[in-house]
Amino acid sequence: MAACRWTEAMSVGVPALDSDHRCLVRIINLLGEVEQGAEARMTIETVLETLAMYARYHFAREERLMGACGFPESRLHQDEHERFATFVQSLRARSLKEADAPLARELFAYLTAWLRHHILIQDMAYKPYVCAVGVESHTLDAALRCRSPAASRHRPSDMTDRG
Ligand SMILES: [Fe+2]
Repeated sequence: MAACRWTEAMSVGVPALDSDHRCLVRIINLLGEVEQGAEARMTIETVLETLAMYARYHFAREERLMGACGFPESRLHQDEHERFATFVQSLRARSLKEADAPLARELFAYLTAWLRHHILIQDMAYKPYVCAVGVESHTLDAALRCRSPAASRHRPSDMTDRG
């Protein structure tokens, strides 16, 4: 399956969040490499666990940023984050019963489409508000650097935005 690729057209104007998005692309792309066999279960479980942790970390950063730049639809955006987190938990429960190559392909297709929508539609909506404040501003910088205890606990230490 064709891997998802992050491009400049997907930039939300905030390097830290673009970096998060590239990490999410890398996590989801692991599903596109699954072959038949025992590897499928391990990959699906690893991807869903990592996705749940990294999405929580990323969503927390976005929510602080949206608050700091006065994005008026912040509450709706947060609701979307919560729905996605709940959905990933349901996928984890499902994967305990079936974790094979067809499921990996289904999840890859769904999560790739979800990520494109998340970035190109939902996140692009806050970009003008970020730009109006200025990404270099102390306010936004402080929002990105501040880590809630829950969010910092869940950032996978070995994740980078390579690729
Ligand atoms: Fe995002």
